[in-house]
Amino acid sequence: MTAKPSVLNDLPADLDRQKLPHHVAVIMDGNGRWANHKGLPRIVGHQRGVDALKALLRCCKDWGIEALTAYAFSTENWGRPLTEVDFLMTLFERVLRRELQEMIAEGVCIRFIGDLSALPISLQEEIGRAMEATRESENIQFNVATNYGGRREILQACRAIAAQVKANQLNLEEIDEAIFEKHLYTAGLTNPDLLIRTSGELRVSNFLLWQVAYAEIYVTNTLWPDFDRHAFHQALSDYQNRHRRFGKL
Ligand code: IPE
Ligand code: IPE
Ligand code: MG
Repeated sequence: MTAKPSVLNDLPADLDRQKLPHHVAVIMDGNGRWANHKGLPRIVGHQRGVDALKALLRCCKDWGIEALTAYAFSTENWGRPLTEVDFLMTLFERVLRRELQEMIAEGVCIRFIGDLSALPISLQEEIGRAMEATRESENIQFNVATNYGGRREILQACRAIAAQVKANQLNLEEIDEAIFEKHLYTAGLTNPDLLIRTSGELRVSNFLLWQVAYAEIYVTNTLWPDFDRHAFHQALSDYQNRHRRFGKL
């Protein structure tokens, strides 16, 4: 099904291939401000944000990064004006339809994480099609967090586990981190090594609360639509100079 294209792999010479993060997570923030600064409507910022995400996905694939998780829409983003929310939902659907063939051709395995049941039905259908069509692809794992909230994810895991205990399918003592992770949207995925946030905000905004426990955090003032290969290269250089201790010495 997936024709594996020749990998470009033009990894910058100063980066150590052995020390690349396996999984990069990104809070794509600053679309609105990017547009404002240019005197454009916010939605143009979102459109340009899609281009930046596509470029980052390609870059991750070229450089041999195994997984990319992008925060596209939070459980709190429903609080924005209806016109913006509607625009975003339509944009997600349109982009997914437009990009699916290319993602298949490039061996991208796409997965949406979040409470997908609240999304417009037509978007849910497009998501289902894309996930099914790329299920076997193995060049890169691409996760899109849509109607995603870390607290909601943890709560629904608690509920599912409690139901198992109540039904005598699980003993209280058996509940450990491994069992818990099986009930998260990210079940089966490795936790991010590097969390990038653009636009300079120093917060996690309810993103992957459990999973980023030991992620290295990189914040740049660059606004998301301007986050290009060069900016990603800088993030990776910074990451490679960190000393990850995991609580040890
Ligand atoms: C991030 O950009 C995209 C989404 C949250 C959907 P913003 O829309 O938050 O842009 P700013 O933060 O207002 O500049
Ligand atoms: C986080 O950005 C959500 C996404 C990038 C999808 P926000 O713009 O919603 O975050 P806050 O409101 O600045 O915390
Ligand atoms: Mg924002």
